[in-house]
Amino acid sequence: MRNSVVINNKIKPYIKIIKNIAGDKSISIRFLILSSLAHGKSIAYNLSNAQDIIDTLKCIRKFGVKIKIKKEFCEVHGNGLFGYEYKNNISLNAGNSGTAARLLSAVLINSPKFIRITGDSSLQKRDMKRIVEPLKEFGALFKTKKNTLPFLIKGTKFIRPINYKEMRGSAQCKSAVMLAALFAPGKTNLKCVKSRNHTELFFKNAIKVPIKVNKSNKFDLIQVEGGKNFKGFSYHIPGDISSAAFFIVLTILNKKSSLIIKNININPSRIGMIKILNLMGSKISFHNKKKYKGEVVGDIHVKSVKKFKSINCPKKFNSSAIDEMLLLFLVSSIAKGTSTFRGLEELNKKESKRLDWGIKILKMIGVKTKRISNHGIKIYGNPNLQLKKTYRIRSYLKDHRIYMLSVIAGLTLGGRWVINDPDSIKTSFPSFNKLVMKLGAKIN
Ligand code: S3P
Repeated sequence: MRNSVVINNKIKPYIKIIKNIAGDKSISIRFLILSSLAHGKSIAYNLSNAQDIIDTLKCIRKFGVKIKIKKEFCEVHGNGLFGYEYKNNISLNAGNSGTAARLLSAVLINSPKFIRITGDSSLQKRDMKRIVEPLKEFGALFKTKKNTLPFLIKGTKFIRPINYKEMRGSAQCKSAVMLAALFAPGKTNLKCVKSRNHTELFFKNAIKVPIKVNKSNKFDLIQVEGGKNFKGFSYHIPGDISSAAFFIVLTILNKKSSLIIKNININPSRIGMIKILNLMGSKISFHNKKKYKGEVVGDIHVKSVKKFKSINCPKKFNSSAIDEMLLLFLVSSIAKGTSTFRGLEELNKKESKRLDWGIKILKMIGVKTKRISNHGIKIYGNPNLQLKKTYRIRSYLKDHRIYMLSVIAGLTLGGRWVINDPDSIKTSFPSFNKLVMKLGAKIN
């Protein structure tokens, strides 16, 4: 693919249905890891075809687990909880995926040998201390210089259950501890700031291991009883709301348009963005809601919005909208009044420094912003914003969400956009460019 794309025209009004957006990335990674630890065959339908998933799959195959990718489904043949084969000098490459690196580290808690884990240049910048520390408590050994990748991890025969407090609202940290807890005989207790709960739902409804979840206002108290094998299972993976999010914002910002996106995971722990957009004046609604293995799946109906209100975004939404924050900044830039987002320290710890990038892109398109310390942003919205200049997006560590955000901005706010590294979409949403073009967008 060419190294940059040019967007020169706004998208025309459309009335469309998207029947199939790629399978949820968080659920796809969890499916692969858990099925590789199950006894026997597991099957997933609609597994994401994103690079993060391919990288996870390649890592798991190195432990002798057979994974077959067929046209309609993916088949994993697990050898049980303690069934990984540990050859000498195994080296894993998690590519761009923080979730893969952190969750795979956890399931190496019983590895008798040192395993090397690395990732691409973006992943090598990300903090691993957050999982190194709890995994050490379980008994793992690490060889690491700065708590970043690459590192070496070795497990132990004597895995101890732990008590763990998760204060960032990070589902990756919570899930890493829960996965290691599967191997620890006895009860591991977690007290976690709320975050996406797919791992809890997998434990309860797919692999059926003993788990207790007590929810209070701010924290979830989770107890996992480890040391128990589980059987293979099947899973129909719903569409990814973090991918659908780009089309939701494209539609609300476009004129005279409406869109139905079918079969999306609308788990309450993932729909912060929809709640925020509805507070800002959209009328996004859910239809055909069904429960599936504890997840909520449904269709999303969305229409153009004429006027947006600004928002003082409650922090309680942060974790459930963390991957969609840049889109919310974009909507805030044309809202009436000043929007404020706080408590977003984690945003600068993603695939790129997304808080910094948000500020940079809004500044470039003439929207006034004010940074709030290291964790927030004030956006002075301008409902009459019309872009006429050329805007270049480069050196953004190929962060897939920055690329897709820039495309949406170019298609709705105007101007000429030159955006580097279109192949960054492979990380999470390989069909993104094709789908926007199907709605009528011109991307050269
Ligand atoms: C994810 C959790 C979030 C999210 C990431 C996927 C997961 O990260 O940003 O894209 O699948 O658990 P954190 O746990 O670091 O917040």
